[in-house]
Amino acid sequence: MSEPDPDVWMQADWPVERARHLLLPRGAPYTCETYQGGGKRAHTTKKAFGAGQILLLGTSGSGKSTLANSLLAWATIHSPVPRPLCFLGMPEEWLKCLPDYMQKVAYTLKGLDELHKVKRGSIVLIDDSGIHAAARRAMSGGNVMFSKYAQIARHQDVTMVVTAQAFRIIDFAADAVTEGCTLIKWYDMGALKHERPEIRSKVEMAQQILRDHTGNSSEACRPFYYCIEDKQLAKFPAPDWVLADDIGRPFGLLTEERMKEVLGS
Ligand SMILES: Nc1ncnc2c1ncn2[C@@H]1O[C@H](COP(=O)(O)OP(=O)(O)OP(=O)(O)O)[C@@H](O)[C@H]1O
Ligand SMILES: [Mg+2]
Repeated sequence: MSEPDPDVWMQADWPVERARHLLLPRGAPYTCETYQGGGKRAHTTKKAFGAGQILLLGTSGSGKSTLANSLLAWATIHSPVPRPLCFLGMPEEWLKCLPDYMQKVAYTLKGLDELHKVKRGSIVLIDDSGIHAAARRAMSGGNVMFSKYAQIARHQDVTMVVTAQAFRIIDFAADAVTEGCTLIKWYDMGALKHERPEIRSKVEMAQQILRDHTGNSSEACRPFYYCIEDKQLAKFPAPDWVLADDIGRPFGLLTEERMKEVLGS
């Protein structure tokens, strides 16, 4: 399994500053590059907040799971003491897809009804949140729990990383979370029309920037994302393990029994 090159993994724009602020443990120092006009750059050191919520939004196949796992790997490598990594709803056997340094701190929980078991200081990945939150069943039990937890997670020094194909699928109070980071990947223009009004214009702007930069190709767009809070287009490095087939398709590993549980049947 190839290890990421630490130099590449600490590039100025990887990850964007806002994501570093939430991913590193509380109080951990990180360096930011600030542009001072006239081509001049300065370095400043900040202290991480170490909690909050990172939303990754984009059409299916845009590379959300890949980016999410790369972010968690980055955080693990660059934290003075690596944070526990909670993979909510993932099958236990899926953890074997991760490199050793992540497996050492990784654990799984079955679903939203186990949120109370999240270890203090964890980064929690809720991938394909549409399935877990079942948001289309308006404010179902799971969703209420999700919503409540999102608001108190910072009391436990927990950072939530949530992926979804659209903001409208996430039916919890994302706005109530003080420390947030929204990372946008490729959206189908058709899907954009149905996006919630409070975010639509921001996603539209992100699409314009992503498309201009990548020649309007969804494939060329995969290594890129746009951060709404930092107003920044950024690129992320993807090592071999994160591009393996099973990483983005954890439900492919589920047994029939677990599949029944996930589908709520
Ligand atoms: N930076 C990248 N470079 C090369 N290939 C990538 C990159 N990011 C993602 N891919 C590939 O694109 C495909 C889709 O990625 P991924 O599974 O992360 O998408 P997704 O947005 O999570 O999709 P879904 O919504 O269906 O879960 C995968 O085969 C993945 O390996
Ligand atoms: Mg995915």
